[in-house]
Amino acid sequence: MENKKLIQSEIQKLTDELNRHNYNYYILDQPTISDFDFDMMLERLAALEKEHPELIRPDSPTQRVGGTITKQFNSVAHKYPMLSLGNTYSEGEVRDFDQRVKGLVHEDVEYVCELKYDGVAISLIYENGFLIRSVTRGDGMKGDEVTANVKTIKSIPLKLRGDYPPFIEVRGEIILPHRQFEKMNQEREDIGEAPFANPRNAASGTLKLQDSSEVARRGLDCRLYYVLGENLPEDNHYARILRLKEWGFKIPEVMEKVSGIDQVINFIHQWDTERKKLPYDIDGIVIKVNSYTQQQQIGSTAKNPRWAIAYKFKAEKVASQLLSVDYQVGRTGVVTPVANLSPVLLAGTVVKRASLHNADVMNELDIHKDDFLFVEKGGEIIPKIVGVDIARRAPKNVKLLFISHCPECGTPLVRQEGEAAHFCPNELHCPPQIKGKLEHFISRKAMNIDSLGEGKVEILFDNGLVRHIADFYQLTYSQLLGLEKRFPETENQKERILSFREKTVENILAGIEQSRQVPFERVLFALGIRYVGETTAKKLARYFKTIDALSGASKEELLQVEDVGERIAESIVAYFNKTENLEVLIALKNAGLQFEVSTQLQHSSSLLSGKTIVVSGLFSVPRDVLKEKIEQYGGKNTSSISKNTDFVLAGEQMGPEKRKKAEKLGIPIISETDFWKMLEE
Ligand code: IVH
Repeated sequence: MENKKLIQSEIQKLTDELNRHNYNYYILDQPTISDFDFDMMLERLAALEKEHPELIRPDSPTQRVGGTITKQFNSVAHKYPMLSLGNTYSEGEVRDFDQRVKGLVHEDVEYVCELKYDGVAISLIYENGFLIRSVTRGDGMKGDEVTANVKTIKSIPLKLRGDYPPFIEVRGEIILPHRQFEKMNQEREDIGEAPFANPRNAASGTLKLQDSSEVARRGLDCRLYYVLGENLPEDNHYARILRLKEWGFKIPEVMEKVSGIDQVINFIHQWDTERKKLPYDIDGIVIKVNSYTQQQQIGSTAKNPRWAIAYKFKAEKVASQLLSVDYQVGRTGVVTPVANLSPVLLAGTVVKRASLHNADVMNELDIHKDDFLFVEKGGEIIPKIVGVDIARRAPKNVKLLFISHCPECGTPLVRQEGEAAHFCPNELHCPPQIKGKLEHFISRKAMNIDSLGEGKVEILFDNGLVRHIADFYQLTYSQLLGLEKRFPETENQKERILSFREKTVENILAGIEQSRQVPFERVLFALGIRYVGETTAKKLARYFKTIDALSGASKEELLQVEDVGERIAESIVAYFNKTENLEVLIALKNAGLQFEVSTQLQHSSSLLSGKTIVVSGLFSVPRDVLKEKIEQYGGKNTSSISKNTDFVLAGEQMGPEKRKKAEKLGIPIISETDFWKMLEE
């Protein structure tokens, strides 16, 4: 017992200390510890928590990395309705707002000007200093509870500091900064998923992911703009937002208190220009009456407060003539139509190309040959085609139809049910698909052969030295030495000549040699199976342990793996049904690549060996802790109950359907306490 007390106090100390460092880093921007030392401390805490899951604290920084799986988001009523703001689009309307406000308060009014973040509204509930719940706006009266996902956002405190009130609700906007947005879309395109159209959609999609560790990877951020509660300190909005800082929140970097409508208009002008330099999207300015007493005097309608208003920036719009449509074929064969436009200046940049996304979008826009297209750029980073100037269309010009055959290899294109994208099914012989696969294989998160990057793969492909991924392992010094290619100048790069001298060749061969040690899960990702991203590859590797088990798995078995749905399962089965793929796998195996999880990961004990277990309900520890334990003891986690299930580990509020099914099939249901006892024994 004494020992447990010591551990509890160490967990407490580490949690507090790590939270303090997180605060220094994310809120104050003044780290006082090296990343390495931080990671060591975090590792120590995670190890202690793993041994003693009952001692994990709700504000533990380990929750930042996610791990919780939410199957269904609970609908939760808002304590105070989540109103939206009335919109204005002109200076005149902003002045009208000022007049209305003054007509109601009959005294001087101070305004606070803020940025209008283009993201997803969120409500954060803190009780006794702990973040206990986080809910989306929903219909304004009730929203979805997304707490596990929100906890992964580093700028949101899990535990407040200083002299905080016993209850507060803080509202703000979850945003996805440009850098993270671009990275995420690149990754999506890499595995054959349609990219998100803008950061707002991406933030909203990310917030609704079931796997919080995936949310943690994507890099959401948050900006706060509203504080609610009872008997809170301060009698005005501005001061209360500043208070948030004392309680450990990161407060908006831009917020200005002004005393007349002219200053409001100045703020609008200033940010209409400066927004282009912000690392995230904003779509306007929000103007709020500062004094709470005045806010109450002014009141609200059912939908909007009357004491605040949004000014929306005008998206700049120009018309430009369509020169042609390119159809780009990506690594997984997805075909994306891109409009080539007569160059126009738009919001400070010259636009020559804009994505038309897919056949549905093209069809809805009803694009005809030589049309003048309206291109818009608002607070967003990407120019968007929003319509056609029909008045300028010549009657003879025909409607443009999406192509039926691959522009690169001539294969008829396929469109799967429920998918917006067309794709070229000739994955083994279509040149951009082969090249894309080769590039994916060597990429950092896959085999990480960085000595082969930046155009070198293209040279190998053009010279017929590499046709499929296994060919990398047959390359010889003499084949490589002296290869050369001239890359003409492009929009982003000057002309360059790449030539393979001694040192380059040595590096390439050494990189290939080292890649033979890359662990199985990354090899699996590197194979480039459609829809199998990094996370899915990891889960598959852990579940099946060897490529032989995976390649022999039926669709039903694949569906047992967490996060694997119909689409992924079908794609995996199809991959292993192709003889060509099996040949490549044999060649890679002969080359000595890792096709099994390392023995270390296999299991440290065989107590649950061969047992198939379903974990369902709420537990005192994150569900992943239990799942990891099961794996560590040799068991298998599955998501649905079948006759092959050995037992169900049931927490509170386990779904009634699941319970019924388990009872019907006569499968034992054990409690969390029994489970820990079982492991102890
Ligand atoms: S204040 C009752 N401030 O824009 C006032 N909202 O329709 C609540 N938004 O739902 C909102 N930036 O999602 C406020 N600085 C800001 C904001 C902001 C973005 C969002 C919010 C709101 C919508 C307006």
